[in-house]
Amino acid sequence: MTTFPAKRSLANLPKKVGAYLAPSILAADFTRLGEQVAAAEQAGAELLHIDIMDGHLVPNLSMGPCIVEALRPVSNLVFDVHLMISEPERYLEAFAAAGADVLTVHVESRGNLSAILDKIHELGCNAGITLRPGTPVESLVPFLPQVELALVMTVEPGFGGQSFMPGQLSKVRALHDWSETHGGRLLVEVDGGVNPATASAVVEAGADILVAGSSVFNKKVSVREAVTRLRQSVLEK
Ligand code: DX5
Ligand code: ZN
Repeated sequence: MTTFPAKRSLANLPKKVGAYLAPSILAADFTRLGEQVAAAEQAGAELLHIDIMDGHLVPNLSMGPCIVEALRPVSNLVFDVHLMISEPERYLEAFAAAGADVLTVHVESRGNLSAILDKIHELGCNAGITLRPGTPVESLVPFLPQVELALVMTVEPGFGGQSFMPGQLSKVRALHDWSETHGGRLLVEVDGGVNPATASAVVEAGADILVAGSSVFNKKVSVREAVTRLRQSVLEK
């Protein structure tokens, strides 16, 4: 029988000024992955963003459940798994069993999305929904009552290190407003090109969670320094 590690709920994140941080390991040094994740946790990040790419929904391949499984025993962060895969239903159980806490699927992926979101909850995970920059925010609305998280992509999904697309901030505002008028339970997350220069606009637009890959894991500054700079950029506004 498949066993599922204990799940962390987004509803239990501690109250916070600014936004929660979700460093994305796509930009990490994979020869020292455990060390880099520990550094992000010690620096005060709340979540760990894990990008799963299948070469179909996006033109790149990344990692599978074994990375999630390897990291689970060494980290207490909320594992925020971004499924950039065209048939997410096939892999939900594997990622939940490996230790995912949040499973986010693309509205552009195949399958019955409502059933997929139900399945994510049945597996004990938080459910998230996301969209490409070219997809209108209205396409998410029917699914919002069913999810704990809505993710706005501010780059074309598939690669780290791209430039932030400010035109996507209207989606962040719309989703934040939706959340406010529906009890405030839905968290809005932003992914792509988030760095100390762009983060404050993202938070001002209403984001609750910032994903940051190359601005946290890079050769210029330590993970601790990078996390501190991001936090300050959000708080100093
Ligand atoms: C892109 C991924 C992002 C990526 C962000 O497809 O979804 O999570 O890691 O990387 P940066 O922060 O470098 O834009
Ligand atoms: Zn991502």
